[in-house]
Amino acid sequence: MTNNIPYDEIISIQRKANIVDIIRDYVPLVQKGKNYFGICPFHDDHNPSMSVSTDKQIYKCFVCGNSGNVFNFVMEYEKISFMQAVKIVAEKTGIDIDIKTDNKTYIDNTYHRLYDIYDIAYKFYQNNLNTTYGKAAKKYLTDRQIDDSIIKEFNIGLSPNDSELYNILNKKGFTDNEIIESAICYKSSNNMYDIYKNRIMFPLYNLQGQVIGFSGRVYDKASENKYINTKETKIFKKGELLYNYHNAKALARKEKSIIIVEGFMDVIRLWSIGIKNVVATMGTAVTKFQANLINKMAPNIILMFDGDEAGNKATQSYLENFGNNMDNIKIVRLEDNLDPDEYILQKGKDKMLYHLSHPINVYDYKLNSLKENIDFSNGKDISNYINLMIPEIEKVDDDIVRDIEITKLSNLTNVDKEIIKSKIKTNTNKEIKYKEKRNVKSNKYEKASKYILYRMIHDTNMILYYFDNLSYLPDELDRKLANEIVLYYKKFNSFNINDFVIYLEAKKDLINLIINIDDLNYTKEELEDSIDNYFNVIKESLYNNQINKLTNQLKNETNEIKRKEIAQQIVEIKMKESK
Ligand code: UTP
Ligand code: MN
Repeated sequence: MTNNIPYDEIISIQRKANIVDIIRDYVPLVQKGKNYFGICPFHDDHNPSMSVSTDKQIYKCFVCGNSGNVFNFVMEYEKISFMQAVKIVAEKTGIDIDIKTDNKTYIDNTYHRLYDIYDIAYKFYQNNLNTTYGKAAKKYLTDRQIDDSIIKEFNIGLSPNDSELYNILNKKGFTDNEIIESAICYKSSNNMYDIYKNRIMFPLYNLQGQVIGFSGRVYDKASENKYINTKETKIFKKGELLYNYHNAKALARKEKSIIIVEGFMDVIRLWSIGIKNVVATMGTAVTKFQANLINKMAPNIILMFDGDEAGNKATQSYLENFGNNMDNIKIVRLEDNLDPDEYILQKGKDKMLYHLSHPINVYDYKLNSLKENIDFSNGKDISNYINLMIPEIEKVDDDIVRDIEITKLSNLTNVDKEIIKSKIKTNTNKEIKYKEKRNVKSNKYEKASKYILYRMIHDTNMILYYFDNLSYLPDELDRKLANEIVLYYKKFNSFNINDFVIYLEAKKDLINLIINIDDLNYTKEELEDSIDNYFNVIKESLYNNQINKLTNQLKNETNEIKRKEIAQQIVEIKMKESK
């Protein structure tokens, strides 16, 4: 285990945390009797299929079978490591633990010289803005309504026209190689030059909020390169960051919503009108890495890319690539091809706030955006359009909303509602499929195996009894679980299911299995059965397996001597069995 929190500390965190309170932060839960129910976030769920038990401190989806303790939930929901999940649960529960989780390894000490260079650079650029030389740049910013408080908040600066920064870094003892590696300067015919000349400098930050690069904007002339970004370095990978992530993270979590825009000017402008749970992808090409980050930030996502066709394309491609769980994505499309920055300046704060409080769902977005390429006098076009919309309608779980969407589609296309309805498959089919997959008819060996595991979980005497007298189960996963239980018991000399599930950390197949077994219902009489009867069933299966295997070998073996050997083995096993 790369374990940096002691096991007993994790147990005590779990005891203090309440799984219902933690899961509620992610998924709405409704109480029914002793348990709570919610939409399962781990499969395409349409009815509340996930139950959360306060007694057991365990969640379980009865459709997809995903289950576990509070750490497993947070881990899977946020797609993070087990230890990171422990840390989040501790934080949410108000437990103060000073632990280093593996996300801290992002701050890699080997590159501290590069971080130092960037620290010097952004302060230098910022100072420049207040010199006489900086007057024109300052005027440009003022004209764009970027005032001093914004400049300060986002550490906006100005690069000079000469190589002053190089000289400063050189004097501070950085070698040319280090400075080149930082991508702030380049070497040409043995001379060093600053890369950024006369540009307004926007620092770019890593996920922890350290400056690791820049985007420099022209301001005094038209240029082909409006922005020049730092090229990739050891610490700067544009596709692995989101502009404003470190500032927006806590707020997005608190407000349960994150707004995604293209440019950092959009972030800055939204910030200036008080909207701070916002990050920029810095262009329309969103990477998988960025999408994963976004998914972890908040349960609700609002895409507000530029109002132009490029922004529309970016929205479509985001939905195609990363929008498989569409329920949590909403969309804002701004009129007149404006980007959020321009929109706020031209139409005002209130109109922006209205948009953000009325984002449209993915269905309505597609209904509108796909419509644009449709010739409504062409039957084939209309038919294609309806076929594209059907899967979107199928995703809507609320009957009433679904009916409204069908009506919209019917009105728009002039196609009868009943015809559209007849094409729609209901979700129940999907759920039945899940159930069929999981409830494979179990034979008597499987039944015996589960029964033995159940008894082991509930009676520690049975653990050693199993170890001494059987130590075998036909199903590989069952056998693995039994082995882990034995190992655990030998190590800790006690056993309870909660602590054991914590011990299993991220071994989800074993966790799902043990929680399922714990949920099996046996009658009082069944539980008084002698375990030996069940051991005998397993031994019989072992015997049958061995005989079958040997019989098959015998069938395929042509060598006389080897055939005799196999036959002999079969006889021996049969003799042993009949004793
Ligand atoms: P935009 O062209 O929409 O820029 O690019 P913008 O935000 O409206 O900028 P202003 O208002 O003209 O100053 C969106 C984002 O794409 C990246 C930048 O991160 C920018 O914020 N971009 C754009 C570049 O990296 N390089 C470019 O040349 C242009
Ligand atoms: Mn702009």
